[in-house]
Order: sequence, then structure tokens, then C-alpha cells
Amino acid sequence: MLHYKELGLVNSRELFRNAVKGGYAIPAFNFNNLEQLQAIISACVETKSPVILQVSKGARKYANQTLLQYLAKGAVEYAKELGYAIPIVLHLDHGDTFETCKSCIETGFSSVMIDGSHFPYDENVRLTKQVVEYAHQFDVTVEGELGVLAGIEDEVSSEHTSYTRPEEVEDFVRKTGVDSLAISIGTSHGAFKFKVKPGQLPPPLRFDILEECEKRIPGFPIVLHGASSVPQEIVDEINKYGGKMENTVGISEEQLRKAAKSAVCKINIDSDGRLAMTAAIRKVFVEKPGEFDPRNYLGPARDKLRELYKHKVLNVLGSANKA
Ligand code: G3H
Ligand code: 13P
Ligand code: ZN
Repeated sequence: MLHYKELGLVNSRELFRNAVKGGYAIPAFNFNNLEQLQAIISACVETKSPVILQVSKGARKYANQTLLQYLAKGAVEYAKELGYAIPIVLHLDHGDTFETCKSCIETGFSSVMIDGSHFPYDENVRLTKQVVEYAHQFDVTVEGELGVLAGIEDEVSSEHTSYTRPEEVEDFVRKTGVDSLAISIGTSHGAFKFKVKPGQLPPPLRFDILEECEKRIPGFPIVLHGASSVPQEIVDEINKYGGKMENTVGISEEQLRKAAKSAVCKINIDSDGRLAMTAAIRKVFVEKPGEFDPRNYLGPARDKLRELYKHKVLNVLGSANKA
């Protein structure tokens, strides 16, 4: 058993308490490799923001569990070296079984998500409670989910949105003992979130559902998944340099800013980072077709990612200077 405190990590409890009180959200950025990690940490150190390093099941498989542990430990030291020891959470994104959550807890994660949202309600409660009981023995925080997001993303797939039913949230939180709750109010995973015609706007987020949830569990930490904004200028850059991404549309930053001011205290962003890296790498390959040193295309990708994350922290999440 490697406890997260040995790695210098923190769980999400105090960060969420402060975020709900302060009207901002903690960034939850996914990472799979060194450059993404460097970009996340340097952006959050520069803006003095706490951060949740998010690892999906696919990322664990891609990057190797042991390397991830050392990367997370390295991230803590890297932040100090950059001049500011920001609080860092290592979080399992979309954990699908008790065993996966247990294995993460035993290998240094300080927070896990158990995503039972696609199960019938009672099964979601049973599974989530099982994870909470195990995790809390080690002071690891747990995120549960009610409602299903639309969108297709690797291992996370769901054809249709099924909004969270506010009448279930209080019972779910009480029965499971979760520390935070992901809800479905119209966000969606991936870069192709909504089927809209060119120029058409996606449907607005259901702030009425968010408000109903908040009334039933006042001050309880709420999480938004699928919160990439799919910036049009980045998509245009990808297409300009030979990519082919059409009719992509995301969640507007104004709506996310509004959500961050409420009890939404964690906002998950992965796809925007993927887009930023892709745009930067494509640009290098088109402008310098002879380039073959990975540092010379992964480096610009890392720089673009760092700028994107700084923008999110400063202008969308509001978590700058909260570390
Ligand atoms: O919500 C899912 C995250 O974007 C992780 O995606 O399973 O492809 O690593 P992934
Ligand atoms: P995006 O695909 O919108 O970035 O959402 C990421 C996410 O929810 C990770 O859990
Ligand atoms: Zn998600």
C-alpha cells in the first residue's frame, strides 16, 4: 500500500469546501504523458491554482501504473521547483469497478470517481457505497455520478443524455456517503458534443436542474464532466494544417463561468487539451516537414497546452490565486 500522503498529494475535501464557499471551481485536467503533466503543473503554478490531475482507465493502461505514481510524485516536486507548492490531487476519472478504485487507492491516488451512473439507481447506490467505505478508511475522497452524459469518448460512451433527477440527489448522497457528485445538466464528453448545423448554437445547460439539486443538497460539492468548450480558433487551426474536424461544438465558457460560481466546484476538461496539442503538432509538421525530433513538436504542443490551461484557470474556473 502506497498512501497518497507519502507522495505529497492531498485529497479533494478542503479544496472543494473552499471552492464552494469562494464561488470558483477546481480544474480537473486529464493527463496521459509527460508533456501534458508539465503543462498542467506549470500553468497552475503560474496562476497559483490548486489542481486535480485526472487519470482515466485508458490513461492508466497507456502510461503504466507505476510510472504514473512516480509522475504524480514528480509533479509535487516540480511545482515546488517552479516556486510554489500548489495542492495537487491525483484522481481516478470514471472508475468503473470497485477493484479499479481499490487498486488506485492502494497505489497513491488521493481521490477516485466511481461511475455507476449507467446502472439502475439501487445498483449505483450499492457500488458507490462500497467504494466510499473502502476509500474513507484511507482518507481518500470519492466522486459519484447521477444522470448520464451524452457523447462518445473511448471507454465513456452514451448515446443520449439522461439529465440528473434532482429528487434523487439527497437520497443518493445520504445513502452512499460520497464526497462529491457529478451531475448531468447538458454537458457532454468529447469534441463532437452536439449534432448542430453550421452556425447553430448547442442547447443551453440546464441551470434549472443545477439549482434544484443545490436546493436539495445545499453547499454539497457538485462536479461537471464534459466541460470542454472546443474553441473554434483551435479547430480552425487544426483544419488549416490538414486536419478534418467538422461541426465540432462545445460548452460556452460563459456558461461554465456561471456554473463555477455555484456549488459546482470541479470542472473536467480533457478534449480542449487534446485539440490544442493536435493543432500545435500539425502546424509544426506542415511548416517544417523535415522535423523529426519529438521535442520540437511536443515542445510547442506543451506550450500551447500551458496557455490554454492558464486561460481556463484565469477566465473560466476562477481558481487563480486560490492555492
Ligand atoms: O471523460 C473521459 C476522459 O476524457 C478520458 O478519456 O478514456 O479516452 O482517457 P479516455
Ligand atoms: P471533455 O471531453 O468535454 O473534455 O470532458 C472531459 C471529462 O469529463 C473527463 O472526465
Ligand atoms: Zn467525464
